[in-house]
Amino acid sequence: MFNRTVLGRSIRSAQWIRHNSSKVAPLDASRLTIEKTTTPKPKLPNDQLVFGKTFTDHMLEIEWTKEKGWDVPKISPYHNLSLDPSTIVFHYAFELFEGMKAYKDANGLIRTFRGDKNMIRMNNSAERIALPKFDGEELQKLIDKLLVLDQDFVPEGKGYSLYLRPTMIGTSASLGVGTPDRALLYVIASPVGPYYSSGFKPVSLEATDYAVRAWPGGVGDKKLGANYAPCIKPQLEAAQRGFQQNLWLFGDEGYITEVGTMNVFFAFENDDGTKELVTAPLDGMILPGVTRDSILELCRERLPKDEWTISERKFTIHEVEEKAKKGQLIEAFGAGTAAVVSPINHIGFRGRGIDVPVSLGTSGDLTATVAEWIRQIQYGEREYKNWSRVAQ
Ligand SMILES: Cc1ncc(COP(=O)(O)O)c(C=O)c1O
Repeated sequence: MFNRTVLGRSIRSAQWIRHNSSKVAPLDASRLTIEKTTTPKPKLPNDQLVFGKTFTDHMLEIEWTKEKGWDVPKISPYHNLSLDPSTIVFHYAFELFEGMKAYKDANGLIRTFRGDKNMIRMNNSAERIALPKFDGEELQKLIDKLLVLDQDFVPEGKGYSLYLRPTMIGTSASLGVGTPDRALLYVIASPVGPYYSSGFKPVSLEATDYAVRAWPGGVGDKKLGANYAPCIKPQLEAAQRGFQQNLWLFGDEGYITEVGTMNVFFAFENDDGTKELVTAPLDGMILPGVTRDSILELCRERLPKDEWTISERKFTIHEVEEKAKKGQLIEAFGAGTAAVVSPINHIGFRGRGIDVPVSLGTSGDLTATVAEWIRQIQYGEREYKNWSRVAQ
């Protein structure tokens, strides 16, 4: 005789079989277990928040094995991980991550911005390095539960948010280079302040042509930890020469790809007086940013069509230099979750300087406009499609 629980389990097992054809369990938010902390941390005042330095009371973890699939999701007090020194992540970089934010709206509700896009990107990253894929909606439901539990850590106010770091690592304890048969998916959360505490601060960039961030057929369009460590040295070198960030170029042509860890946009004036907003295409060499995609969609919808062309196309540092010389460079900005937009006021390239106008003093007009469009959706002030999701 089946009792309710056993019957429930047998129905679910049947679903696993149907779902996957092999008998491995899918990620299932309804199996979540929660262990609450008995030692809540003090909440820091807004002016003491430093990006990624302090974390909320709890974390989410889900283990995966090749044999059984996704295990029971667990929310428990924030803790250290204990891993064998041979664990595959430490040796061959089986690691991927996401960066997204949760915002507190005027009614105290916690909202995430386009998390479905992060889930798709995370699965694409996982597939590329032979880590397991999962149902993104199920992970979003679990993240919602973590957010509701730790909602007091989401700081209030314009520009304040809770940074979420979904991460997946290969956890097989073996030095063999091969497909991980164990993995851990976890999510931690860090309260953060605005990228610019008092208005925008435009940055100066050094165009890097002696090192590349990504290449055709590579993994620049995946959010793998392995993509980030090699980018620090060129950034340090740019800093030593007095620049705040570096602009990643590719190839002899000097194609502009990204800025630091952001996508990049340039606004040009055409000879006939019309304008073009340009960003690099999704050709496998740039990260498909959620902010980039949002800016493209909002600009295509909201900027006057007889005045603006919105382009995803290849363009080079030489084109930017030419436009600047002709007085047709209008503005430029980086785009990413951390800052939404980051205005650019100068680019150094092979000893020459390109000045980028900042018509409003600290940013261009369009830069400020798109930042505000996105902020309104993130904080639930303006509904737009399903871009803002209330955690419950
Ligand atoms: C290399 C790189 N490019 C672009 C972005 C911007 O992506 P998103 O807008 O999804 O934050 C990020 C940040 O995640 C990044 O690390």
